[in-house]
This record gives sequence, C-alpha cells and structure tokens, in this order.
Amino acid sequence: MERMQASTIREILKITQRPEIISFAGGLPAPELFPLQAFRKALNQTLVEDGVSALQYDITEGYPPLKDLLCGWLARRRIPATPDRMMLTNGSQQALDLIGKIFLDPGDRVLVENPTYLGALQAFNAYEAKYSTVPMDAQGLLIDQAEEKIRKDRPSLAYLVPTFQNPSGITMTRGRRMAFLKTARKHKLPIVEDDPYGYLRFSGETQPSLYSLAGGRGVIYLSTFSKILSPGIRLGFVLAEPRVIHALVLAKQAADLQPNSLIQRAVYHYGKSGHLERHIPVIIASYRQRVNTMLSAMKRYFPPSVRWVPPEGGMFVWCRLPEGMSASKLFPRAIQANVAYVTGDAFHANGGGDNTLRLNFTNSTPKQIEEGIKRLGKVFSEAL
Ligand SMILES: Cc1ncc(COP(=O)(O)O)c(C=O)c1O
Repeated sequence: MERMQASTIREILKITQRPEIISFAGGLPAPELFPLQAFRKALNQTLVEDGVSALQYDITEGYPPLKDLLCGWLARRRIPATPDRMMLTNGSQQALDLIGKIFLDPGDRVLVENPTYLGALQAFNAYEAKYSTVPMDAQGLLIDQAEEKIRKDRPSLAYLVPTFQNPSGITMTRGRRMAFLKTARKHKLPIVEDDPYGYLRFSGETQPSLYSLAGGRGVIYLSTFSKILSPGIRLGFVLAEPRVIHALVLAKQAADLQPNSLIQRAVYHYGKSGHLERHIPVIIASYRQRVNTMLSAMKRYFPPSVRWVPPEGGMFVWCRLPEGMSASKLFPRAIQANVAYVTGDAFHANGGGDNTLRLNFTNSTPKQIEEGIKRLGKVFSEAL
C-alpha cells in the first residue's frame, strides 16, 4: 500500500472539471467521435443473434470469433497474430497488472522510458518494482544508455511505448527499434510493447511494431479498443508467445475469470460490419485538425524558450520549459487563467522532470485549443 499512490492525473482531473477551465490535462478521447449508432446496432445484433450466450460465463482467453477477426485486422497492419498467441483483456491496463503479476518479484527492475506512462508505474508499483530509466530524444530511446542500464541494473523486463508515446508523443525510429531488439535479445530481456495509439497516425510513415520486427519472439504486444472505439467498454488484447499467454490466462482467471461476454460479441459484430476500418480514419482526421491547431497556436503564443517535438499521431504534445522553471509551481497560475495541463514530474519514475508538462489535444475543440494555448502562453511569458 505504501507504494500505491493516487494517480496525480486523476487528482488534477478533479480540479479541472470546472466548466470555465479549458483542460489539456486528461487523456480522454473526443466523446463526440464515439460511434454511438453503429455500436448500438452491434449491441442489439448481439442480443438478438447470440442470445443467452452473450449473458453467460465464457472462456478466459477471449471470444474465439473476435480473436479470429482481430488476427485478420492485425495482419492487414502487418502485425502477425494467431489466436493461440492472443488473449483479450479488460483494457491494456489489466494486461499491465497481469504482466506485473507473472514477471515481477519485489525489488525486480523494469527498464522504462523517461518519461513513461504513469498507469504502468502504478501497475508495477503494486508488485514492488524498481525502475531503470532511460532518456529519449526525437528518435526515441537512447540505445547506448539503455544498454548501459541493462548491463548495470539487470532489469527483469523492459516496458516501452514506442509509438506516439504517452506522455512524450515521441515515436521510435525503425533503426532504434532494431537496435533495442538486438540489445534486449543479447541480454535475454523480455520486452513489453504497449501500443494503444499506433493506429492513430496523422502524418509521417508507419513504423513496424517491435513485435513484428522480432517475429513475435521475446516481445509482449499490448493494444486496446480504448482509443479507436471507446475506453468505457474496457477491452484490450495481448499478443505473446503461447507460454506467456498461458501464464497470463492463469493470472487473469484469478483476477476476474474472463473478458466481458456481451462486449466482446458486440465488438465482434461492430468489426465484422467494417466499422473499425471505417471509423479510424474519421478519428484521425479530427485529431489531425486539433493537433495542427495546437502546434500552430503554440508557435504563436509560447515563448521561444519552450520546446516540444511535434507528434505524428496519438493524443499528446509534451513541452519542456527552460531549466529552472517549474510546471508544478506554475500550475495554480494556469488554473487562475482557466487552463490546465498535467505536470511532467508524475511521468518520471525516479523523480525529476519538474520543467516538463503534457498537453492533450483530443478532448477540446479547435476553438478551445486556440484560446487555451493563448492563456497558457501568457502564463509562461509572465513567469520568464
Ligand atoms: C500507454 C498506455 N497504456 C495503457 C493505457 C490504458 O489503456 P486501456 O484503456 O486499454 O486500459 C493507456 C491509456 O491512456 C496508455 O496511454
């Protein structure tokens, strides 16, 4: 319990619920893009066509027709998947918890990007993990430093978000991916590749997943329907070697028996009718407009000493204030100006990062984004 802290983000979200505040703090998808009609139809179809089996207990691994459909969908994205290498989860967050359960003993180390996804730290903290943090540049993880940490700290697991990372928005280049795989293989280090955002690319070239580059060996791939359909349905999936899937299945049985029978069938009907393929480009077009509005407003309103790497997809822009400036100290002033962000320190597993912050662009309209960035620019300029 000592290590299980309340998520700073969820605490900040409470303050930012006030209607006058333009909030770039959360990580929520745009609710107006949820495919309400299509999903209602899929749910109705489930109850009519599948009947009572949609309300019955089911197997732990996941609903087989949905697994088959997903394997085909992933193959079209050049991610090789077979049903025996797949398990469905209650969101990717559950997969992180189950991975902690089967891989980590107290005091074991996890190699993570610095900054990294806060929810992963929360999940691994429950298993008393320690962290070896590795910085990134615009091309992703710094491989020399990763290798040094692996040699020195002997981590049990590497956890990476290589595509449109949360929080930094950075995507690892193909070269860095290959180099990291080589290093990890040399040291027999299992890799968790968390990829909730990879299907939301606005610009640039698609990068191959670590999982496909490794031919599925030594990499556990996680993804989710949260950002491409709805986070409220809580459905994600894991790809891994069959022996890892077997261990995860046992851990999931102990945790909650199985994924939701009704939701899996509804997602199956939704996907089978072609809605996944049709809907993702709609999300991408809308997010592209929002991120472009944000980046162009940042150029106009932020002082030149504030730095960022424009993301090619995902949901976040990461900002670095000049050294010595503190995003946490500025936070009350931002709230006074009716604009909110998440301070970057929360994403640093071993401390630091006080001059960084994360901006989300998917849960505000372009008009709000323009106004919110203008307000934030004023707060930063006055603090310089
Ligand atoms: C990197 C990363 N992993 C996992 C998750 C959790 O996703 P899910 O809703 O599938 O549990 C998130 C959600 O924000 C995320 O950003």
